[in-house]
Amino acid sequence: MSVLEAPLIVASNRGPVTFEPDESGELRPQRGSGGLVTALTGATQSTEGLWVAAAMSDGDREVAAAAGDGRVDVDTESGTFNVRFVVIPPDVYDRYYNWIANGILWFAHHYLWDTVRSPVFGEDSDRAWDDYVEVNREFAQALAEEGARQSRTPVYLVQDYQLAVVPRLLRELVPDALIAHFSHTPIAGPTYLRILPTRMRDELLAGMLGADVLGFHSEAWAENFLMSARSLPGTRVDLARSRVVFEGREILVRVHPISVEAEPMRALAATPRLRRLRRELGRWRGDAKLIVRVDRLELTKNVVRGFKAFEVLLTRHPEWIGQVKFLALLSPSRQVLPEYRAYTKECLAEAERINHTFEGGGWEPVRVRVKEDHARAVAAYGLYDVLLVNPVFDGMNLVAMEGPLVNRRHGVLVLSRNAGAYGRLGRYAIGINPFDVRETADAIHEALTMPQHERVRRARGLSRLVLANPLSRWVRSQLEDLERVRQRLARRAQVS
Ligand code: G6P
Repeated sequence: MSVLEAPLIVASNRGPVTFEPDESGELRPQRGSGGLVTALTGATQSTEGLWVAAAMSDGDREVAAAAGDGRVDVDTESGTFNVRFVVIPPDVYDRYYNWIANGILWFAHHYLWDTVRSPVFGEDSDRAWDDYVEVNREFAQALAEEGARQSRTPVYLVQDYQLAVVPRLLRELVPDALIAHFSHTPIAGPTYLRILPTRMRDELLAGMLGADVLGFHSEAWAENFLMSARSLPGTRVDLARSRVVFEGREILVRVHPISVEAEPMRALAATPRLRRLRRELGRWRGDAKLIVRVDRLELTKNVVRGFKAFEVLLTRHPEWIGQVKFLALLSPSRQVLPEYRAYTKECLAEAERINHTFEGGGWEPVRVRVKEDHARAVAAYGLYDVLLVNPVFDGMNLVAMEGPLVNRRHGVLVLSRNAGAYGRLGRYAIGINPFDVRETADAIHEALTMPQHERVRRARGLSRLVLANPLSRWVRSQLEDLERVRQRLARRAQVS
């Protein structure tokens, strides 16, 4: 049977639904947002597959315990989700998720350390790594169990750095499983990855190489992985064909850029609620030009340098004083980590400092809103003249795709060359080095003064590119890769 018809079993740390109590205290499912959930939910539903995810909230844990085996079928407006919750004791989960995944791997893959002082590894991080591997083992176990319950042979789609060693652990349990692992982040190149303790680095790479196919959003990350894999003893890396041979198996390294779904976003943008929100934002903007950024409040997103670049713009081009406003819509993220709490304060302080320096005559240069508010973000997408997307490093960045789909002013995208999205959209954006605030300021100025015909050309180009790569293609290409692997293995089995 072709992989394209096989049941899909998806694994990700954050699942498609999470349970939170409503006002009356009753647990209600809340659907996770974002392209990943949309893409994979569609695919699991059409193949009767399911989703294995961590129980992240107390509500998830309660629901999983009530179900006995962690299996929950959740009916929502957007369909039924078959979820298997993996329940981990909170202290172990903390070391796996906060310490290793978000505190170390995320930092490594996005080049976030200030290496003069951090990181410092020792016995504690060694033990935390053991817990990370243990949680990955729990996932592998749950995946193997769910696979065994299927009437047809399933395929496994494992997501991201939280579950990097699942492929190898799952392969130990199900040697002939078809496994794809997808990294939604960048991945560190060999020199930077050498910061990790040797055991951690080797187990990480060997863990990923348990898959049949490793997917990335951009060529740059796939290349980094291939170069890093060369440092693992026992690997043979074929750069030209983008393959690795490890422990007698051949692993394909592939680039499949994810996309966004245009229709739901455009439908939301057309609702009366969004019209009201746009009017409200429009009143605040007045006659000024508008720069917008929409991000998780995340170290990688480079919010502070974005504000500094705005300051440089106002200093180098004082003609913009009073004539342009900057709206930053930020949703809180990972506030458990001290670095994130400190960064949140820094972002707010920087905006305040700029407002203090430049405000006058009723003009508010920067407005920051820290709140999860998808509707307001889509409303702001409608109104920007410049969309600033300047992450230091980013696996893909979907804001760069969402904005152009609903913008109504032929707004210009100023985009970091270190975002995976640059590989797809770069030719219609103004590319920037995100560390260079002068270049960023110049790019914003260029965007604000760009002739109308050029703005139109670029804005149309951007939405055309996004629409030309529907979200469904992302899943399909991964399954086609796995189908090729299946056929190759079947041919080999026949010969031997
Ligand atoms: C990135 C990662 C995802 C993660 C998301 C939100 O996009 O690639 O795996 O789920 O950030 O982070 P969180 O830690 O809140 O799940």
